Amino acid sequence: MSTTARRLLVTSALPYANGPIHLGHLVEYIQTDIWVRFQKSRGHECHYVCADDAHGTAIMLKAEQNGVTPEEQIATVKADHQRDFADFLITFDNYHSTHSPENREFSETIYLRNREGGHIATRPVRQLFDPEKSLFLADRFIKGDCPKCNAKDQYGDSCEVCGATYAPTELKNPYSTISGATPVEKESLHYFFKLPDFEAMLKEWTRAGGLQTEVANKLAEWFESGLNDWDISRDAPYFGFEIPDAPGKYFYVWLDAPIGYMASFKNLCGKQGLNFDDYWAPGAESKTEVYHFIGKDIVYFHALFWPAMLHGANFRKPSGVFAHGFLTVNGHKMSKSRGTFIKGRTYLDHLQNPEYLRYYFASKLSGSVEDIDLNLEDFTLKVNSDLVGKVVNIASRCAGFINKQFDSTLSAQCVEEELLAEFIASGDGIAEHYEARDFGRAIREIMALADKANQYIDEKKPWALAKDPANREEVQAVCSVGLNLYRQLIVYLAPILPGIAESSRAFLDLASLNWESRYNLMLGHRINAFTPLMTRVEKDKVQAMVDASKENLTATVAAPAKAEAKPAAEIEALAPTITIDDFVKVDLRVAKIVNAEHIPEAAKLLKLTLDLGNEQRTVFAGIKSAYKPEDLIGRLTVMVANLAPRKMKFVMSEGMVLAAGPGGGDIFLLTPDDGATPGMKVK
Ligand code: 2FM
Ligand code: ZN
Repeated sequence: MSTTARRLLVTSALPYANGPIHLGHLVEYIQTDIWVRFQKSRGHECHYVCADDAHGTAIMLKAEQNGVTPEEQIATVKADHQRDFADFLITFDNYHSTHSPENREFSETIYLRNREGGHIATRPVRQLFDPEKSLFLADRFIKGDCPKCNAKDQYGDSCEVCGATYAPTELKNPYSTISGATPVEKESLHYFFKLPDFEAMLKEWTRAGGLQTEVANKLAEWFESGLNDWDISRDAPYFGFEIPDAPGKYFYVWLDAPIGYMASFKNLCGKQGLNFDDYWAPGAESKTEVYHFIGKDIVYFHALFWPAMLHGANFRKPSGVFAHGFLTVNGHKMSKSRGTFIKGRTYLDHLQNPEYLRYYFASKLSGSVEDIDLNLEDFTLKVNSDLVGKVVNIASRCAGFINKQFDSTLSAQCVEEELLAEFIASGDGIAEHYEARDFGRAIREIMALADKANQYIDEKKPWALAKDPANREEVQAVCSVGLNLYRQLIVYLAPILPGIAESSRAFLDLASLNWESRYNLMLGHRINAFTPLMTRVEKDKVQAMVDASKENLTATVAAPAKAEAKPAAEIEALAPTITIDDFVKVDLRVAKIVNAEHIPEAAKLLKLTLDLGNEQRTVFAGIKSAYKPEDLIGRLTVMVANLAPRKMKFVMSEGMVLAAGPGGGDIFLLTPDDGATPGMKVK
């Protein structure tokens, strides 16, 4: 059953060089790695490339914060990323950096060809500027008072308290979150990529079948609301590539990031003698396939800007862009306070085996853009039951007899040809599910086969047969069938479990476990000694991993939901030092929440009625994302009792409750549980 060999180039999104790989990232790398391993197993030529995404303000600032040069910063992070990927058995054919000569060359070529084609425009842009750092400030680096409700410390685009949206220039008392300085408005010339020039081409490309339906529908909405020019320049100081003929102007990180896919591949071509043009020249679509695996949040960049830039520069466009959803853990957004924002390294330190996670993620992936949930209890149960209880169990039940009683040699004939034929035939359907990235469905079919193999062994009971020497031949035959069935299962699971596949290959003494090899039965074949292939996931180690991922939280006034996206160090650095005299002015009191209710008009606020012992106050708190009103009623909390009443969009708020946490689902009202009473002063 040979299929025509395909030639594929596959990428995963490039991780930023300013932080460690966490389980959220790993969904994508594991998904892509499985798909790539499957293609290779089928005999296709498949190149999997990636790189660190090394440019931009965030990385420049991170290096500064760490007291190193950006080059040193990105080198350290790249080494960490590569170590993490290798330990999760993610096998890139090449791992490069966007801060590379190849990437500079392609970025310039793509830009210049688009400029030549009339697709670049320039115009002045007015923006807030940090006069202390001499830096233009992106919205996320500006905070101030909301122009509508006066809430303090709101970001440059929207207010977390009243929900208003506005331009950063409208903030009152704005300050730069980088230096604390008051920003000034300043104009500078920006370079734009004229995306609307490509509308007709993009509409056609979108419908050509390389996108998931949900993604194509989203694009249709974007076409409907109209495409805009894309600002591709940033002013110095910026860590990136200077734009040709534009001194002091740099390519925005998102311009050169996807070009990093080409650059990494070019670098691989140099190492392996591959022909770059076979994959990227115009018309290459007819002989090679290019696929990008990405998260659903970066579809705009990959399904609009990227094909348009390529088209404008006379390169081929991708054959497909595959988006996946986000990872939740135990049903919630990953959270540092719950200990579910788990770094890849923390997982490895505690659970050691990357294949547990590879298997669990695969079982949850369906090829759609739906979010996937890592439920840690289900994870433990599923891995133990499927992999240890079902799959590995088949080998361990049969291998002992073969090793000990038959000089490690399998029967010369197969007594269950039909059963084996059924296992082999199932490979076609399973392959279709892999191809469609429906790994969950592939796993369900593979586990149904594993159940059948176990049933066969249960029925034949080799351990009972072995008690009578007259059954000697039958014991060997049954165990040989079991091991042949096991081998088929491992062929099917190998893209997901490359480690187990390799130990099984060695134990079965086979040259290969590729997809085609499933047709070869092991008859009269000598195997090696069996060694345990996988141990169980231990619940207490999972708990230890969660505990080790918990970060201490500094108490902060409730509600900066966006703070999750910001490094904690930055947030803490922003709070000015206060004197004891300032502190004693704050009247902190224990308050009983006697009522809590939603306000339909407010996206984030709950209305709380607080009892202070001798009076009641109405306070509006931005904690709706974390608490249901009914769960709060009757509980004690701590409030600032002498805060001047503030007019909010809907009403007056007579105080403020104290909470800790990064925001979103992770806001924790301070609750003085041990015997405090309403009105008590907090010291
Ligand atoms: O969103 C991100 O993490 C980006 N670093 C992904 C870049 S993907 C590609 F365009 F390079
Ligand atoms: Zn507001």
